[in-house]
Amino acid sequence: MDPDDHVCLCFRVSLRKIAAFIAREEPRVPSQISECLGAGTGCQWCVPFLKRLHALHAEGKPMDLPVSPEEYARRRARYRSTGERAGDAGGDDGGQEGRDEGRDEGREGGREGGRAQPTEG
Ligand code: FES
Repeated sequence: MDPDDHVCLCFRVSLRKIAAFIAREEPRVPSQISECLGAGTGCQWCVPFLKRLHALHAEGKPMDLPVSPEEYARRRARYRSTGERAGDAGGDDGGQEGRDEGRDEGREGGREGGRAQPTEG
């Protein structure tokens, strides 16, 4: 996704605007990104992606979404018609892929406790 592509299609908020907002305002929780032109307050399709961008920034990584705008819009259209996500939203919200985020935290031992809880809020 390029900087000028829209992450929030409801309110036409570009990746550039959202990334600049996150970098400038340092929102403590992803929901505060809604203060950036209402991003995420429409159909809510983009919310997992906003969370993803927030998490990337918190990790000191470049804020990017590895999806083409065409594919992104196609998935949103499907989401809006079925109410279901494809499971590849690129966020931690409902995705089924087991990404190894946080593996560099050097945790030892507690693997049997199950999945790490996403940090919310
Ligand atoms: S795409 Fe962002 S709220 Fe609908």
